[in-house]
Amino acid sequence: MTSLADQFRRHARHLPDGLYRTLMLSMAEDLQAGGVVAEICRDWADAPANAVVQLRLLAGVQRLALSRAEPQLAMYYPNLGGAASPAEAWRDFEPVLRRHVDELRQALTIAPQTNEPGRSVPLLVGLFDAVGRSGLSSVRLLELGASAGLNLLTDRFFIAGEGWSHGPASSPLRLTEAVLGPVAPVPFTVVDRRGCDLAPVDATTVEGRLRLTSFVWPHDLHRHERLRAALAIAASHPVTVDSAPASAWLASMLQSPPADGVLTVVWHSITRQYWPPEEVAATSRVLDAARDRMPIAHIAMEFPVAEAAGPDGEPEYRPPELTLRLSAPGGLADRAPVLLGTAAEHGVPVRLASSS
Ligand SMILES: C[S@@+](CC[C@H](N)C(=O)[O-])C[C@H]1O[C@@H](n2cnc3c(N)ncnc32)[C@H](O)[C@@H]1O
Repeated sequence: MTSLADQFRRHARHLPDGLYRTLMLSMAEDLQAGGVVAEICRDWADAPANAVVQLRLLAGVQRLALSRAEPQLAMYYPNLGGAASPAEAWRDFEPVLRRHVDELRQALTIAPQTNEPGRSVPLLVGLFDAVGRSGLSSVRLLELGASAGLNLLTDRFFIAGEGWSHGPASSPLRLTEAVLGPVAPVPFTVVDRRGCDLAPVDATTVEGRLRLTSFVWPHDLHRHERLRAALAIAASHPVTVDSAPASAWLASMLQSPPADGVLTVVWHSITRQYWPPEEVAATSRVLDAARDRMPIAHIAMEFPVAEAAGPDGEPEYRPPELTLRLSAPGGLADRAPVLLGTAAEHGVPVRLASSS
């Protein structure tokens, strides 16, 4: 089994030069030498690599910088305006870790969790298609694995491409030039919106906002900017995200059909890969059972199911796919999801299938 210190080193090897690479390597040394990182991680020595203990710890430390509990750290965080070289950063970080051992031990219990508003772009493109093809412009939006529910606010973001735009021009969140390919916006109204997550984050609280922000990498300024803007919108337009697993929640939501003429849209992005196989199968069964009772558009932005490894032992990278499956009782029905395009992992840019 790979030691925790080696897990940190392996991860660092894949990172570009910068704060997180330097800290991960310094933390690995400290861990091996029995320093403060060893003390903080003492219950995690046998953690599997996919627990990404290093990211949990770095998020806990970033929270200390973001909350100004340790304001001098800001000089190292580009998202806080810092530009100091990380080369000697450990000298300043090590005493901080010593001052916050209990808090950082608690931070290790929080699994990495993000909510990426950039994914609203592919989801909106799917929604245009669903509304256009169904002819139903009143939408009940249900999101699985919604995190803080930021993508349930898609219609409050200004999203634009060549020759088209959607949403209020005054929106604090502007996602422009984010789609490669022709888009024909279709008007729609969201009559109801709600999500579920195994661990919902409350975007209206300081703690929830801090948590989401702390898992975004410090050098990723575009993502910080998008998240800040979406959180500002969520503060004045809160959405409900229930604490529940996808399939059970969806079954309860689909128990009764919405009013006549309302399209039920079930969407999700970058969550299915975390579901156990039973969850994936149960969610499909719930959707199939409901197709005879109401018009449903199932929109997904998810990685395709991994294929066998290539010659170098690694499965070939394939980007997340944007798919739509539309059905209505006794009417139109896609037998399989239609591939509308692919998207970058954080949603933008979207490359429409019709553009290639
Ligand atoms: C990478 S985040 C993506 C969040 C959001 N969909 C987005 O695109 O920004 C994955 C989310 O899926 C949630 N999740 C994982 N398994 C789940 C399940 N079985 N049911 C519901 N949510 C789940 C996690 O708690 C996490 O919030």
